[in-house]
Amino acid sequence: MKYLLIPVLLAVFLPALFCLESQGTLKCFKCTGMQEQCNTNVTCPANADSCIFVKAGVTRHWDCWTYANCHHAFIETHYKIDNFEFKCCKKDLCNDSPNLASSMTLPILVSVLTIIQMLSF
Ligand SMILES: *[C@@H]1O[C@H](CO)[C@@H](O)[C@H](O)[C@H]1NC(C)=O
Repeated sequence: MKYLLIPVLLAVFLPALFCLESQGTLKCFKCTGMQEQCNTNVTCPANADSCIFVKAGVTRHWDCWTYANCHHAFIETHYKIDNFEFKCCKKDLCNDSPNLASSMTLPILVSVLTIIQMLSF
């Protein structure tokens, strides 16, 4: 009975994980301005697999973003700003909050997949 659990878990959770990671249907808030909140959202292009929130002084940017480009140097060049905080995340409309702690989505996914692999082999 115990060994039945793993295939069942795999069958249930793996498709769900890939679903979360699938591209082209992510929604993000998209604005630029000095307002606290962004009320406009868009469906991102397929190459944008994350949302970004950038705060540079009083100016804020909300947009779709490529997760691989979610690092200080790229953002600095793209927005032509040098003193800023940012946050990238990979869930629908996740870039609304001014909480700038970096997203943990990817590390969590990777560790879940690793644990599943360790359990099954
Ligand atoms: C996203 O945009 C749609 C269409 O503009 C709007 O109806 C919806 O309320 C928005 N969702 C959020 C969470 O702002």
